[in-house]
Amino acid sequence: MKTSLFIYKSSTGFTKKYIDWILEEVPGIAVQLDYVTREDINNHDLIVYGGGIRAGQISGLKKVLGKIDPRVKPLIVFATGAAPRTENIVRQITEKNFTNRNKPADFFYLESGLNYERMGVFSKMMMNAYRKILAKKKNKSDVENGVNQALLRSYDHCKKENIEPLVLKLKTLL
Ligand SMILES: Cc1cc2nc3c(=O)[nH]c(=O)nc-3n(C[C@H](O)[C@H](O)[C@H](O)COP(=O)(O)O)c2cc1C
Repeated sequence: MKTSLFIYKSSTGFTKKYIDWILEEVPGIAVQLDYVTREDINNHDLIVYGGGIRAGQISGLKKVLGKIDPRVKPLIVFATGAAPRTENIVRQITEKNFTNRNKPADFFYLESGLNYERMGVFSKMMMNAYRKILAKKKNKSDVENGVNQALLRSYDHCKKENIEPLVLKLKTLL
């Protein structure tokens, strides 16, 4: 049977929560991005990478793509983010993070939330700055009003059912 390695970067715990749910459904080993070795990667048939979105970028993705060439080794990527899952958001993230050369076998976006309690100082400062810019903006769109409200406090919109398409895909590959 093929084996899978789940590499992840999770600063405030949302991506890790999804990794734990996925591993309840499919066999695999999880390792944090900072600790993954070349041997870990070579020893597995399929690699799954999960990371949170920061200002539109999938955190840690560049480092992963420096270690794995998706044209050589099957790579599935998922990203967790505070924004709700819409076609538009998924398209924007895809366009910003992948080119034809580094496109993974598949990409999934999973809605998460915000956790101010576990955020580092720099992240909190970035969120505060963004909140202030939005608060000052006149004639905010409905989306911007929604974002403005969402940024006020911690929330968790993770749902186990969100992993279903990803789990289905993994089951076809393993
Ligand atoms: C500095 C910062 C920037 C963020 N930028 C975005 C963003 O552009 N889009 C989004 O949907 N979520 C954004 N988020 C929310 C995170 O993507 C979300 O909380 C994610 O699940 C974090 O994953 P982790 O807890 O596994 O690190 C941002 C969070 C922080 C702290």
